[in-house]
Amino acid sequence: MKAAPDERNVLLISHADGGDGIVLAKALASLPKQEPGSARAKELDMNLSSFPLITSMIRMDHTHVMAAFHRYHAETSWPRKRAIVELVCTALEIHAQLEEEIFYPALGEAMAGDERLTKSKPEHDKMREDIAKLRAMGPEDAAYDARFMQLMRTVMHHVADEETVLLPAAERALASQLSDLGLRMTKRRIQLVAQHRPGAIAANTVGTFPLASLALVSIGALALARCLRSSFAHRGSRT
Ligand SMILES: [Fe+2]
Ligand SMILES: [Fe+2]
Repeated sequence: MKAAPDERNVLLISHADGGDGIVLAKALASLPKQEPGSARAKELDMNLSSFPLITSMIRMDHTHVMAAFHRYHAETSWPRKRAIVELVCTALEIHAQLEEEIFYPALGEAMAGDERLTKSKPEHDKMREDIAKLRAMGPEDAAYDARFMQLMRTVMHHVADEETVLLPAAERALASQLSDLGLRMTKRRIQLVAQHRPGAIAANTVGTFPLASLALVSIGALALARCLRSSFAHRGSRT
């Protein structure tokens, strides 16, 4: 018997713990809209209320990028260098976009006028400049290693600022919103990963760095997969 679309999605989500953003994006799109205030909507809200905090997701992204960076050595083969660089660059681009679309605006509202917020966007722009220069080169270029180290210095400086200043401030100022923001960030991340996946991620990273590619989808996607699984299972038990 042919499985219904939702059932197929449940099966696919079962394998989504491997970090497949496309599968999660499809599952998310097929989740029916809930009537506000309905018992089903309340149940889904309860499932999502313990969603990972946005600040935890940001810290985990930082950790994964650093882990990928530490795989890069001067003697690493050219194809592997290129794969590591592409993974790091893509992960950084997605991470920066998520922060700019979701985290910084929420923080800006809660901490309006705080000058600690003013450095972040220019630092992202500097990072994007470094990424563009790196992508214009190949690993055979004598300056490739130095250029990647420059990118990582920029990133480490920025991450240190975020982890010592912005994230603790966010945990005080946005305490009750951190879980909701984590869910929003996860949904958006899944869209962005799915957009990038046909190119850089699928070609260069998934096979070579399964653990690191997982970081592109993150703990939030795994939590969302569990919520969706529970939602589809619930619908199946009622039909
Ligand atoms: Fe960050
Ligand atoms: Fe940032």
